[in-house]
Amino acid sequence: MTRLKVEMKTIGVLTSGGDAPGMNACLRALVRKGIFEGLSVMGIERGFRGLIEGKAYPMPIGSVANIIQRGGTVLRTARCKEFVNKNGRAKAARFLRNFSIDGLVVIGGDGSFRGAHELYQEHKVPVIGIPGTIDNDIYGTDYTIGYDTAVNVALESIDRIRDTASSHDRLFFVEVMGRDAGFIALEVGVGGGAETILLPETKTDLKEMCDRIKRGIARGKTSSIIVVAEGDDAGNAFEIARKVKGVIGMDFRVCVLGHVQRGGSPTSRDRLLGSTLGAAAVDALLAGETDKMVGIANDKVVLVPLRDTWRKKKKINMDLSRLAEILSK
Ligand code: F6P
Repeated sequence: MTRLKVEMKTIGVLTSGGDAPGMNACLRALVRKGIFEGLSVMGIERGFRGLIEGKAYPMPIGSVANIIQRGGTVLRTARCKEFVNKNGRAKAARFLRNFSIDGLVVIGGDGSFRGAHELYQEHKVPVIGIPGTIDNDIYGTDYTIGYDTAVNVALESIDRIRDTASSHDRLFFVEVMGRDAGFIALEVGVGGGAETILLPETKTDLKEMCDRIKRGIARGKTSSIIVVAEGDDAGNAFEIARKVKGVIGMDFRVCVLGHVQRGGSPTSRDRLLGSTLGAAAVDALLAGETDKMVGIANDKVVLVPLRDTWRKKKKINMDLSRLAEILSK
């Protein structure tokens, strides 16, 4: 059990790694819950880089007005190489002491959690992580902030692509984000009725994929959608399309959805998740917790050791993957 007896007066918060819709809702909740509990809250700009460079400002209640509906992160974010080194973390710890910040909340993905964990191990700064990434690839939480919005944005795009695919009798390879995880691909593939979903978690058999599409054509199908997770073992959507070119007798196009999935107004679910976890992080620090992530499991807030969030692997729902195969026949 990692519990500390540190009196909390001022807490700091930063957003780190890829931005995710719902981060602002989370910041709003954290600031307002913190103030409700009698704390001062400092916002740190551009993730760990801001900690190293000493870029922080007080966040009163009004500083988070009118941001719940906005995508991105008002604190800005960055992927900071210097923080990977001990020297960088020592600078950050000095800065936290100088600003009398008693505890730190890091909103980000597993890379950001590793940094937070090291900061705690080396300098005993109380840290709490909040899962914020569209990839949903963090062990210990059913959902990460931003995932639901990214899925809905991708799904809407796939619906649009289907219109043009069917008008032109075309096959579309649609690549979605997720780094090396297929959570987004699986969910939008099922929701969008994709004929094939290529996931990094399963071995891709391009011959089987081509046979399946050919069987569809033989049955009278005139268009198809293949959802490709960006981390698929057979390559990215362009590479896969190149490999199967000429094998499938259908005109094809490739569409990489890319960063479009990271922007836009957060869905209701992401706003609720951000609000719940923002407030939960304050509670965790006040309870003396550290080196943990606040997550959501079966609709309940849970505390998970930060180390588990990257050492253990969150599993993809293989039942859903099997169902997708049945439904797309
Ligand atoms: O982790 C979020 C994510 O959007 C991944 O899905 C993607 O692989 C990566 O970030 C892209 O990173 P960047 O914005 O640095 O290009």
